Amino acid sequence: MKAVVFHAIGDIRLEEVPDPVIQEPTDAIVRITASAICGTDLHFIRGTFTGMKEGTILGHEAVGVIEQIGEGVRNMSVGERVVIPSTIACGYCSYCRAGYYAQCDNANPNGPSAGTAFYGGPQPAGGFNGLQAEKARIPFAHVNLVKLPDEVSDDQAILLSDIFPTGYFGADLANIKPGHTVAVFGCGPVGQFAIASAKLMDAGRIFAIDRLPDRLDIARSQGAEVINFDKEDPVQTLKQLTGGIGVDCVIDAVGVDAQCPHHGPAAAEAQKMEEQFSKQVQQIAPEQHPQGGNWVPGDAPSQVNLWSVEALAKAGTLSIIGVYPPTDKAFPLGAAMNKNLTIRMGNCNHRKYLPRLVELVRNGSFDPTRLITKVSKLESVIDAYKAFDTRQPGWLKVELIPGSTKA
Ligand SMILES: NC(=O)c1ccc[n+]([C@@H]2O[C@H](COP(=O)([O-])OP(=O)(O)OC[C@H]3O[C@@H](n4cnc5c(N)ncnc54)[C@H](O)[C@@H]3O)[C@@H](O)[C@H]2O)c1
Ligand SMILES: [Zn+2]
Ligand SMILES: [Zn+2]
Repeated sequence: MKAVVFHAIGDIRLEEVPDPVIQEPTDAIVRITASAICGTDLHFIRGTFTGMKEGTILGHEAVGVIEQIGEGVRNMSVGERVVIPSTIACGYCSYCRAGYYAQCDNANPNGPSAGTAFYGGPQPAGGFNGLQAEKARIPFAHVNLVKLPDEVSDDQAILLSDIFPTGYFGADLANIKPGHTVAVFGCGPVGQFAIASAKLMDAGRIFAIDRLPDRLDIARSQGAEVINFDKEDPVQTLKQLTGGIGVDCVIDAVGVDAQCPHHGPAAAEAQKMEEQFSKQVQQIAPEQHPQGGNWVPGDAPSQVNLWSVEALAKAGTLSIIGVYPPTDKAFPLGAAMNKNLTIRMGNCNHRKYLPRLVELVRNGSFDPTRLITKVSKLESVIDAYKAFDTRQPGWLKVELIPGSTKA
């Protein structure tokens, strides 16, 4: 089968690889009908999240049809349409039973303390082959597959695999109460779903911060009040728009590849931080292989941490869903502590939210498809990766269709 294979930092390829096989009675094999590219995949290729093994298939988003099931899977049948949650869980440990699927004790072969297991990730995350492929092996299939009703299309369901649950998780962690003011840093796909989810939770006002006009336009079309950090100082603007108070909640949907402003009134402050930011980048990403403008790490890993803490009202809540690697130690702890902030964060417990979100899409409460802006054949995946990596205008979320003539 064809799959996107990680070779090295700055080197991914579409290749022919062996088909997956059932290894445990609780496994299933799914034929993938839609996959996608996530901002998390970019961190691995840029070198800002290390530990990827050469030969690992990338990707952690997919929708498909069950092709084979192990004899231990009692709730699924061959031929059923399913969405695959990005993180892998067992469904019976104390963490899974409490809804912390991303901290499952059994899914990660490196042991209970190794942390979140997910497809297409580094060795410490289990080294599982990913979902940017024609087929995939799904462990603990009784809990890691969610059936899809006929009314939910593949185009809708692919957004349920990772980014809608992650945006919803971000809004949930942010403790949003009706009327609250919420700032979402980052208007990539995850930020857009955080905005949509904050609306579902009755936020009073939502502010969206980025520097890319096409992404800010989409945020504005969702009803967010937009701030371009290359034109305005985001902290000052948030303060000014909230009567000097700051916002009740911040959702960080950027992560380690954050950039600092190079234009506008906030650039001078960022310039003063240049040496510190560049030390952070060196420490987080000692190996980098940028090529022709691609796979360039962000230049300010802690920029969003600094802005979030400053922009929050006293006793506000910071929700961090942007991904930071375990090697990142740059958080402004003192400033946060002295404002009595609540800080919540983590990898999404996708499986916890999926049934509710599938139903919201099925009953028409929310149609996520307007946030897919590009559909690509798996054959063109490397070009699609490059366009998404450099955030070309219009490349917000890329759906990949294996073996198709659709795109
Ligand atoms: N916690 C989870 O389970 C989970 C799941 C999926 C994705 N993620 C993470 O969410 C983050 C976003 O993913 P994505 O697919 O939307 O990626 P993306 O790279 O497309 O989006 C990031 C956006 O942040 C903007 N940005 C950069 N610096 C900024 C700054 N200083 N202030 C405001 N905006 C800034 C960029 O212009 C871009 O639009 C990534 O870190 C990804 O790894 C986390
Ligand atoms: Zn993801
Ligand atoms: Zn578990």
